[in-house]
Parts: sequence; C-alpha cells; structure tokens
Amino acid sequence: MTTELLAELIDAVECRRNFAIISHPDAGKTTLTEKLLLYGGAIHEAGSVKARRDQRNATSDWMEMEKQRGISITSTVLQFSYKDFMINLLDTPGHQDFSEDTYRTLAAADNAVMLIDAAKGLEPQTRKLFEVCKLRGLPIFTFANKMDRPCRSPLDLMDEIEQELGLQVYLVNYPIGGGDRFKGVFDRATRQVHLFERSIHGSKAAKDNIIDVDDPRLEALLEPDLYAEFCEELELVEGVCPALDLEAVHAGKMTPMFFGSAMTNFGVELFLNSFLDYGLKPTPHNSSQGEIAPTHPEFSGFVFKLQANMDPRHRDRVAFVRVCSGKFEKDMAVSHARTGKTVRLSRPQKLFAQDREVIDIAYPGDVIGLNNPGMFAIGDTIYLGSKLEYEGIPCFSPELFAFLRNPNPSKFKQFNKGVSELQEEGAVQIMYSADEAKRDPILAAVGQLQMEVVQFRLQNEYGVETQLDWLPYTVARWVDGGWEALDKVGRIFNTVVVKDMWGRPVLLFKNIWNFQQLQGDHPELELSAIAPLTT
Ligand code: G4P
Repeated sequence: MTTELLAELIDAVECRRNFAIISHPDAGKTTLTEKLLLYGGAIHEAGSVKARRDQRNATSDWMEMEKQRGISITSTVLQFSYKDFMINLLDTPGHQDFSEDTYRTLAAADNAVMLIDAAKGLEPQTRKLFEVCKLRGLPIFTFANKMDRPCRSPLDLMDEIEQELGLQVYLVNYPIGGGDRFKGVFDRATRQVHLFERSIHGSKAAKDNIIDVDDPRLEALLEPDLYAEFCEELELVEGVCPALDLEAVHAGKMTPMFFGSAMTNFGVELFLNSFLDYGLKPTPHNSSQGEIAPTHPEFSGFVFKLQANMDPRHRDRVAFVRVCSGKFEKDMAVSHARTGKTVRLSRPQKLFAQDREVIDIAYPGDVIGLNNPGMFAIGDTIYLGSKLEYEGIPCFSPELFAFLRNPNPSKFKQFNKGVSELQEEGAVQIMYSADEAKRDPILAAVGQLQMEVVQFRLQNEYGVETQLDWLPYTVARWVDGGWEALDKVGRIFNTVVVKDMWGRPVLLFKNIWNFQQLQGDHPELELSAIAPLTT
C-alpha cells in the first residue's frame, strides 16, 4: 500500500465516529437527532426533520404504504461533520416500524446511544435493543432526556441501569434539580456548571451559560435548599461513582451517562463533545481471514440492510453497506464473496434522510447505498484483493407469527417465488410447521410492519393476494444442539416445535413464563434467542 493511502485511511478513521440511538418510542429520539444535526450544521433550524416526516405524506413518491401510514420504513443514515469529526448516525427504525432491521442496524454501528426519558427510565424497547448491543459488546452512552419535566432522581436512574443492565455507570455530568426546578448540569471533568435557561426555545444552536462550580455566584443563583441538595448529592456521587475507565466503556461494560433536555437543546453539545472524546472509532471486524482492521489497504464491507421500492418508478432495491476497510471509490469493481462474481459499484448513494446523492468516496465507518440488482442478501461481503467474508448477521427472535395463506391455487408459483425471494432478502423470517400436513409457511417477524410489507409486496410485485392466520406465540428460541438435543429431552409441554429456513428446530411459546418453565424443567436444553449463523 502506498504510504499516502495509509495516511489517508488513518486520518479518515481517526476522525470518524459512528453510532445508533436506541430508545423507546417518545423518549425524544427524533428531537435529539435533530439537535445533533443542528450542531453539526447539517440543518439550520430544528423542526426540519419532523417537518420532512410530516411533509412526506404530501410530496414524496415514497412507497405507497409509507404514504398511507405516514411513517418511515427505512433506517436512514445521517452523515454530518462537527469540529474535525465526520459523524455517521445510523437511524434505527422504531415505533410502529420496529422490525428486524432495527436490530440489524446495530450490526453496522460502532457505538450506541441509549436515550431514556428521565421520568420513565428503562422501557421495553430499550431493553430489547440493549440486549443486541450487549451481544455485540458495543460501547453504550446514556442520555437521560426531558430533565425540564418532572423526572426521577439521577441516582435512582443510575441504580436502575446498574441493577437491570449490569452496566457500571460513569456520570459525565450531574443535574441540578429537575422539572420546574431544573437549573442545569455540573460537568465533572471541567468542574463547571452549565446553566439551563428556560427561555431558550431550542430551534437554533445555542451556547451554554457556564460558571465555575466554586464561583460564589452559583450559591446565589440557586435556591438555598436546592444548593444544599446539590452539594450533598455531589459529595455522594464523587464517593460512589467509579472513575472513568475507557477500556470498560469500549468493551460495553461501563456507560458514560449524561443529563439534558433535547427539546431545549440543553446538554446536547456537552454530550456530543464527550461522545467524540470517549466514543470508539471504526473498529476491526471479524472475518474468515481473521480480524480486518479499518486501515487494511483493500476495500471491504458487508450488507446489513436491504430496502425495496424506495422509488416505485424504478422498482429498485438498495443494499446498505457498512464500509469496514480501505477506501471506497465510485465505479469500483469488487468481488461478491457469496457468489464469487464481480460487481461494478456504479451510482453509490449517500443517504441523508430521503435525499439520495451520489458519492465518490467513502471510508471505514461510513455507510453507502448500492443499487441492488437482486444480487445482495443480508450479511453479504464485498471486497477487493484476497477473498474474505465477514461474520454475517444472525436472525433475531421473532415475536409475531402467522400462517401465510394463498387462497388462489393458480398463483401457486408466484406465491412460492415471492415468499422465497422476500425471505432471502431478509424482509421476514419463514418457518414451517414440524407437522408435514401443514405446508403453509409461517411468517415470523419482530414487528407488525414486516407482516404488512410482505403482504403488500406479494400483491404488488408478485400479484398474489394473501391472508394471515395469526398464531398465539410471542417468544421463539432456537435449540442449540439441534434435533438431536431435542430428541434427548423427550416430550415437552406448553411449546410448539417448528423448523426455520434451514430446517433447524425452533420452539415457540405463548409467553415468556412458558419459556421459563421449560427452562426450569429442562435446564440441560440450551436455547438461544438469536439464530446461530448458517455457514
Ligand atoms: P421519539 O422520536 O423518540 O418518539 O420522540 P420525539 O423526539 O418525537 O419526542 C416525543 C415527544 O417528547 C415530543 O412531544 C417532543 O417534543 C417531546 N420531547 C423531546 N425531548 C424533550 C425534552 O427534552 N423535554 C420535553 N419537555 N419534551 C421533549 P410531542 O408533543 O409528542 O411532539 P411535538 O408536538 O413537541 O413535536
């Protein structure tokens, strides 16, 4: 490799940070995203992201379903620069559009920001996403939002995270008061207090009003009981809070925690600055050739998401590729590991919300969108130089199950073709009953929207109208030792056995208690919420 290319890659990696936000609906993800973009200069006035979301109904030629429901099916990638950094924010679909893509996006992220509502603490969707982050050992940064509203005590929130998620919490800053009495945050590294001003509306980037914690004006600014409380809690925090251990942060064992109010812009810049200091730069990825460093001279990357029909006029598909090593250049001809074919990557796209812009160059940590002429599947590797294959992306435990019926026998061929293509693309998981008499495929999905997308696309792309017969299960577990392990156990109760796409046994349970009961009865049976990767 030329020394110029190496220097270019080192520079690009040093200044890149990539993260995804994990949160429960309503915690403020859209608001925080918008404020981050505001500081990054990618937008000039807050409100634009939401406005885009609302505007889409009227103006875009987006997928018909999106128009009908006014939601985004896509996880988009927002790239913006801030100070000397290039930041990639991988937007995880949430709300009603929660799907397996939400999990897959985390496979392309180097860091996660866990956004919680300070009044509610940990909520179900956050917990689920946390499990995926934990599995990948992602560094997690916690932002407790909505401090301007009545909220729980910071020590209580901290305790919940430590107890429930098993993470050590390092408080980067500490709030003074909360709700009506929220006065600001104390930044422990600089020992400065950032004062919250309620008058700031938050649509423009604002500078904080900062004073030293030892400045006598602070006592005068706070009501006496609040000042006393702050001093007392601070002493407690300094006593119990562990020291910052960056290695533990990068291993996903310690979470730096911040407090703020995204709506009023408060604490967002403080968060961004610390995140850039403590966040992980693009990391090496495991492959068939061992770990591949981002500064490896040859380009490589993997597909973590496929999206169909972004533009119904062209019926195209876009493959989202996480760049892992080397430098990506437009029109490159790369090898496709699974098929051994060569693909020319023309018209690569940069993805900013719904705008698509052609890009010329990308570096490790970036995400590019490739027009996918049907050749890419989730987890595929593309590379230059000697052959390598990245680890792949597993299937995640579905929570919704339904038999997919084709009431029209003359459409048998189209139905089968559609089901198999949509499964290959990763739109949904397909399972089959262990009972040979029940031949209809079982759709298994993480979110309701996946089911709707499959039915919609079967009708629109394959001309088959289908029906769903819902099944009463909510939990799926793969049997680690396969059929052999299952046979050894003998008869089991309160579960049904189905086969996944690769013929492996999966147990479906009506609820988590039935699953726990089986585990209690048969501790020797090893069950997993994530499908083992197929080779
Ligand atoms: P989401 O994407 O995670 O679902 O959350 P979103 O940003 O849409 O925020 C959910 C609601 O919480 C919004 O109110 C938003 O304004 C509010 N919010 C976000 N951050 C803060 C904060 O720091 N403080 C306070 N007080 N509120 C916050 P909404 O009424 O649903 O929408 P809107 O009418 O304000 O747009």
